[in-house]
Amino acid sequence: MSGPERVTLAMTGASGAQYGLRLLDCLIQEEREVHFLISKAAQLVIATETDVTLPGKPQAMQAFLSEYTGAAPGQIRVYGKEDWMASPASGSGAPSAMVVVPCSTGTLSAIATGACNNLIERAADVVIKERRQLVLVPREAPYSSIHLENMLKLSNLGAVILPASPGFYHQPQTVDDLVDFVVARILNVLNIPQDMLPRWGEHHVVSEE
Ligand SMILES: Cc1cc2nc3c(=O)[nH]c(=O)nc-3n(C[C@H](O)[C@H](O)[C@H](O)COP(=O)(O)O)c2cc1C
Repeated sequence: MSGPERVTLAMTGASGAQYGLRLLDCLIQEEREVHFLISKAAQLVIATETDVTLPGKPQAMQAFLSEYTGAAPGQIRVYGKEDWMASPASGSGAPSAMVVVPCSTGTLSAIATGACNNLIERAADVVIKERRQLVLVPREAPYSSIHLENMLKLSNLGAVILPASPGFYHQPQTVDDLVDFVVARILNVLNIPQDMLPRWGEHHVVSEE
């Protein structure tokens, strides 16, 4: 199996809930174990941007997401925002990769300063201190110097800043195509197989000239 077997997926309150839900779906199809964290604001954004209504309590949310994605029993674990006993809260138990998608500028800032005021911030802090893989998918427009400085700081610490900005060179026809573009990029960074988007040059026909 290429890429991490266990991934922490955190959804925060930036626009782009579809990216997080689609990534969850792909990770489950690729038979990864997903440790799922979600902020209160993300739940509001999901309700605003999609047809999905997530139950509020972690256990009910876990059952809902398992059915929604067709996950095997135990494949998705949902933790509350102050569940400090959860595996992502400690270097000895945390998955080796974490993706925050979408990543709000608020959570970006908290991660950049090591705030650790909730499990999402703590889990990211653990991934940074353990020098594991952290992928952040921010969305805001325009970005202020505060946002950009936070991104630079985190990039210098080894995090991958992967903005939610789909390309158009694959001629997307639907919103799902745009979502898949970003999700495919995340999977490429994690080295998890995806067939939504060919890698650049993969279908390149060598010119005869
Ligand atoms: C519908 C909706 C869309 C939002 N879009 C964004 C956004 O694109 N980027 C962002 O950084 N914050 C956005 N926000 C604001 C964040 O949700 C807010 O700053 C919140 O405190 C983030 O908290 P969290 O980081 O704990 O999720 C949005 C809020 C709502 C309700």
